[in-house]
Amino acid sequence: MAAKPLNVGLVGGGKGAFIVHPHQKAIHFDGTRRVVAGALHPDPKIALEEAAKWPYPIKGYVSYDEMIAANATLPADQKLDYILIVTPNFVHFDPAMKAMKAGIPVFCEKPLCLNLKEARTLVKTARKLNIPFCVAHTYLGHWTSRLARYIVRSGLLGEVRWVDAYYLQGWLASKLEATGQQQASWRVDPKRAGGSGCGGDIGTHALMQLRYVTGLEITQLSAQLETFVEGRQLDDHFTVYCKLNNGGTALVRASQICIGRKNDLGLTVAGTKGTLEWKQEDPERLTIFLPNQPDRVYWRGAVQPGDGFLPKDMPADLMAEPTIPSGHPEAFHDAFARLHRCFEADVRKWQAGESFSNDGSKYATVEDGLTGIAFLETALKSAASNAKWTKFIKA
Ligand SMILES: NC(=O)c1ccc[n+]([C@@H]2O[C@H](COP(=O)([O-])OP(=O)(O)OC[C@H]3O[C@@H](n4cnc5c(N)ncnc54)[C@H](O)[C@@H]3O)[C@@H](O)[C@H]2O)c1
Repeated sequence: MAAKPLNVGLVGGGKGAFIVHPHQKAIHFDGTRRVVAGALHPDPKIALEEAAKWPYPIKGYVSYDEMIAANATLPADQKLDYILIVTPNFVHFDPAMKAMKAGIPVFCEKPLCLNLKEARTLVKTARKLNIPFCVAHTYLGHWTSRLARYIVRSGLLGEVRWVDAYYLQGWLASKLEATGQQQASWRVDPKRAGGSGCGGDIGTHALMQLRYVTGLEITQLSAQLETFVEGRQLDDHFTVYCKLNNGGTALVRASQICIGRKNDLGLTVAGTKGTLEWKQEDPERLTIFLPNQPDRVYWRGAVQPGDGFLPKDMPADLMAEPTIPSGHPEAFHDAFARLHRCFEADVRKWQAGESFSNDGSKYATVEDGLTGIAFLETALKSAASNAKWTKFIKA
């Protein structure tokens, strides 16, 4: 008999919310996970109204405190197997801590939380309780990100010399927050977003693509945090030059004022033997440039091991990860689904008392989330100082 689908509880997601919707589609993608409950809004009345209006039946709670507390008394088949936190950044730490302490694994949106103190506490708690924890760095879930990781980490491009990790958007090029637009309003408010606006919102995604694909860490950095839209308190343009722990260098940059750019997240990795290029807006394709050779374009699902560049013995789990044949495009929702699928596997192992991977190879861990927050705090420190280089704050 098939295993019971995992029950997921939502923290946030009511009243015009954005990212909950790709998530809830991704949760239902395989039929092995389902959303069963939610504390969808900070206002208790609205939270229940929004749950009643959800497109399929879920149990509404007035608050995440109530949802987490109620879980202890539910029959085994109704208990939550994990919670998904899709609230603004200032409402990540508290529900994550409370869920972990109640024995509920956590799938949390990025950036992990508001500051290093919170991030360290989350890591300490997750380690102590040995409980699954995922940070929703969506784009690691593209199969081409997995392939890029394999190519770079197995040395096929030689030693990494330079990386350009970027995420350019234009939607905050004017003062959208003044119109009351929901997503803009909290993103430009330091109390709700954290110390960096653009860096926290999308710079952390660029950082994670760099770290996930190359396995390299930043040792020192030099940051410029700029605010182009008048009256805004947080950066809307974020540029960080980095020294890497292999002696290479990297540029991690993000912008919200680059009119015309939509979700232009990309990665260029320049190694001693070749260069790799990947773009989120064209996520089925990975391009490899080798000296004096035609460019090699790898499409998801259409990769031939032993083709003169890729070795014969490609990892079986990598080759098995696509869900549909090439030419039927996978995209954003599929990337989210791959993260939830891999997290589900760890939750099921954890529930069975087995060891689970928790190694960052399938999704970003709470430790990755902490590195993201350390990156932001180091960038803020660098931007406020005249020093040429600022040492990466130890996560
Ligand atoms: N992984 C990605 O690609 C990605 C993309 C967009 C946003 N995000 C992240 O997702 C989070 C949410 O962003 P969004 O754009 O969906 O925001 P949003 O404003 O659209 O939605 C936030 C939701 O949280 C709810 N909420 C706020 N406080 C609450 C509380 N105390 N209890 C219950 N619900 C509460 C709001 O009512 C709303 O439903 C942020 O951390 C953001 O950085 C990630």
